[in-house]
Amino acid sequence: MTSPRPRIAIYPGSFDPLTSGHVDIIERGSKIFDSIIVAILVNAEKVPLFTENERIAIIREVFKDFKNVQAETFNGLLVDYAQAKKATVLVRGLRAVSDFEYEFQMALMNRHLAPGLETVFMMPDEKYTFVSSRLIKEVFTLGGEITGLVPPVVEEKLRGRQKTRKK
Ligand code: PNS
Repeated sequence: MTSPRPRIAIYPGSFDPLTSGHVDIIERGSKIFDSIIVAILVNAEKVPLFTENERIAIIREVFKDFKNVQAETFNGLLVDYAQAKKATVLVRGLRAVSDFEYEFQMALMNRHLAPGLETVFMMPDEKYTFVSSRLIKEVFTLGGEITGLVPPVVEEKLRGRQKTRKK
């Protein structure tokens, strides 16, 4: 008997920066799938807070004890990248109803492009439902408290940047 094909999931996003909500989804995904690839979109149009290499390094550091979690960058169509990785699942987090419309549209477009690829939505712990990378950047820049809302390594890096800017 041949062993079943490993179930590979892709968790795509910008992760700029990685939040505790992302970490929660990745941990949940790692329990369900044989492997989960955190795929960072390389977006030439946007000026990111952290470079692609910094974001990869952060995810690898946070998940260093998880054998089935990898971090990579991708560009172009997500479905092409997923097919190249032999993934059969796309994971997306859903925090609130407001996420739904955009996610629904993307999931159906991806299904149109690649019918064999399923999008699976996962809910983070409710304590992270208000957390987004965009708000983290804004709150931190304006001096607000973000402890616990991002992994400690992200907070350290943000504080490091603040110090070098003040010099
Ligand atoms: O963190 P984000 O910005 O919500 O992630 C969006 C992402 C990366 C999942 C989406 O922009 C994407 O898949 N981009 C790759 C290009 C692509 O395939 N576009 C068609 C999506 S239906």
